[in-house]
Amino acid sequence: MATHFVIDGLKAEIEGKEILKGINLEIKGGEIHAIMGPNGTGKSTLASALMGHPKYEVTEGSATINGEDLLEMSVDERARAGLFLAMQYPSEIPGVTNSDFLRSAINARREEGSEISLIKFIRQMEKKMKELEMNPEFAHRYLNEGFSGGEKKRNEILQMAMIEPKIVVLDEIDSGLDIDALKIVSNGVNAMRSEDRGFLIITHYQRLLNYITPDFVHVMMQGRIVKSGGPELAQRLENEGYDWVKEELGIVDETVGQA
Ligand SMILES: Nc1ncnc2c1ncn2[C@@H]1O[C@H](COP(=O)(O)OP(=O)(O)O)[C@@H](O)[C@H]1O
Ligand SMILES: [Mg+2]
Repeated sequence: MATHFVIDGLKAEIEGKEILKGINLEIKGGEIHAIMGPNGTGKSTLASALMGHPKYEVTEGSATINGEDLLEMSVDERARAGLFLAMQYPSEIPGVTNSDFLRSAINARREEGSEISLIKFIRQMEKKMKELEMNPEFAHRYLNEGFSGGEKKRNEILQMAMIEPKIVVLDEIDSGLDIDALKIVSNGVNAMRSEDRGFLIITHYQRLLNYITPDFVHVMMQGRIVKSGGPELAQRLENEGYDWVKEELGIVDETVGQA
């Protein structure tokens, strides 16, 4: 079945403060959507709420992949349903090697008895690491421990490439990347484009979108999507910043603020 991801009227709060104030978004397989917006407007909260981070309480709305409600699932079940999140700040897990982590992540998404064979896993990992121009030693390093910002981001893309999710959410995957790494990471994403995979790319800056061409661009302010368009919208934000959007919509403070 072709992938169909629908977020409908999603509201979420943290410690009693409403951060997401009704998000509507529909992503079909094959599509790349970008969410852009100034700092503090709720972009990472959206990613965390979708993934089921316990700090964020969803108070209204739904998020479904092919009709299955993610919000009623545990974090593991969401992953098995095909959702993948590359976090803005990937966590370090000392004591767990990157390779062990990846293999468990893949197997956790498979039925019991159909786990990936070790040899196939290693071959795939070596291939993907080569494509991402990662030093092979990163397979045996503890997950993200001592990785530079850029190495962590590359490693998130390695996870995405190995896991082959249906819906990919990338939160600020471009932060901390130099121009060469940005190209490598973008190539990694572009190589994963497929008819049965949808992408939600959260980014503060337009430059990533020079390498990954989105089909749709959305602007987020005050915990809502306030404007949507095509790639030209990202270009205009790059040239003119966000002030014109605020003026057009009569927004004074774009952050979620103390509502
Ligand atoms: N764990 C948290 N505790 C308290 N406030 C939070 C937490 N996470 C996010 N917020 C608040 O929610 C708002 C949106 O944050 P975030 O989603 O990270 O924005 P963005 O990713 O767009 O920069 C901010 O005002 C932020 O301070
Ligand atoms: Mg953020």
